Amino acid sequence: MTERIIIPLKNAQPAPQIPALITPATGSLTDAHGRRVHDLRISVTDRCNFRCTYCMPKSIFNADYQFLAREQLLSFEEIVRLARLFVDHGVRKIRLTGGEPLLRRNIEALIEQLAALPDVELTLTTNGSLLARKARALKAAGLQRVTVSLDALDEQIFRSMNDVGYPVSRVLEGIDAAAAAGLGPIKINMVVKRGTNDGNIVAMARHFHGSAHIVRFIEYMDVGSSNGWKLEEVLPSSEVVRRIDAELPLAAIDPNYAGEVAERWRYRDGGGEIGVISSVTQPFCSGCTRARLSTDGKLYTCLFAGNGHDLKSLLRTGASDAELSSVIGAIWRARGDRYSELRSAETAGLRAKVEMSYIGG
Ligand code: GTP
Ligand code: 5AD
Ligand code: SF4
Ligand code: SF4
Repeated sequence: MTERIIIPLKNAQPAPQIPALITPATGSLTDAHGRRVHDLRISVTDRCNFRCTYCMPKSIFNADYQFLAREQLLSFEEIVRLARLFVDHGVRKIRLTGGEPLLRRNIEALIEQLAALPDVELTLTTNGSLLARKARALKAAGLQRVTVSLDALDEQIFRSMNDVGYPVSRVLEGIDAAAAAGLGPIKINMVVKRGTNDGNIVAMARHFHGSAHIVRFIEYMDVGSSNGWKLEEVLPSSEVVRRIDAELPLAAIDPNYAGEVAERWRYRDGGGEIGVISSVTQPFCSGCTRARLSTDGKLYTCLFAGNGHDLKSLLRTGASDAELSSVIGAIWRARGDRYSELRSAETAGLRAKVEMSYIGG
């Protein structure tokens, strides 16, 4: 297995031109670096019933903290209208996120409408807490797959990472319910924090080895401004692979598609596959085809952007589809984001970045 540890955490250098990994289809919308718009991630709520320390730490809930008010949220009708325009621009995958998307009331109705869009894969990322109750209805509404976050199998570690004392068993029940409902193959996201849950990496791999589920080990990122990110807490994916490989031998496999975020590894004994997501040590901006729509209707062209483009105001002041579509096109064409490739120890805390719970993971 090849060792590939690159930690680009030094002073940001003048930007070299990014080679476009993704060949633009004729006539499709591409940004300043030749990247198509292919994925749309829609945050449907900024609320969550967990308080994961790396995402929505309790410390941010001071007297000034305010969740979005109901009228600030995009309505289902507005979301579907925008999603259709993105599909016209080439989007082929829509992921519902949050916050915890299953907390949004009647989410099944939104799923039903999005599932009716042509040629689009529809997925959702959840903490799993409401899955046991909702999996069948989600499938019936047209959801194709789910990704479930689970940061540890160890009860104490998981409870302290979600910081609301939520038990592992309930998330595992949610995963089983999703699989039984036909929402697989299920991906399981584990954010790895060195010194917190890295001792659970091999246990997690072992638990899902031989199942149809795919665990993805994610490097802890400096997203948002509130999680107190420190480079020392990032465990490079190469180390994750090394630790698992020592117990359950692995072999690298090709990506499913150009620009796939996770690097794939299969178990040599045929027990399935895992993925590692290395946005800190091996940034993947050159293949980044993701647009993000926040809960209140702002378009973000990067997870680490400081500002979004306000589409909700346009929607609510009577813009036509043609006008909205041309604004979306202009924003994407001007897009030059490549934060993870420019990240440095200095830039990590430099400017205010939006929280992931608002923009969507
Ligand atoms: P599928 O291929 O459809 O399963 O989705 P995916 O590989 O895009 O995975 P998912 O959406 O579950 O993303 C997994 C995690 O990767 C996220 O929760 C983030 O931690 C990270 N991630 C996803 N997209 C980006 C991105 O654009 N930039 C960075 N820096 N991290 C990302
Ligand atoms: N670093 C990496 N991933 C994160 N997520 C949220 N915050 C972070 C962070 N700081 C992602 C995880 C989680 C999903 C909801 O968002 O993948 O599973
Ligand atoms: Fe909620 Fe997911 Fe953020 Fe945890 S990571 S606080 S489950 S939105
Ligand atoms: Fe895309 Fe920004 Fe993530 Fe780079 S840092 S992969 S440009 S979202």
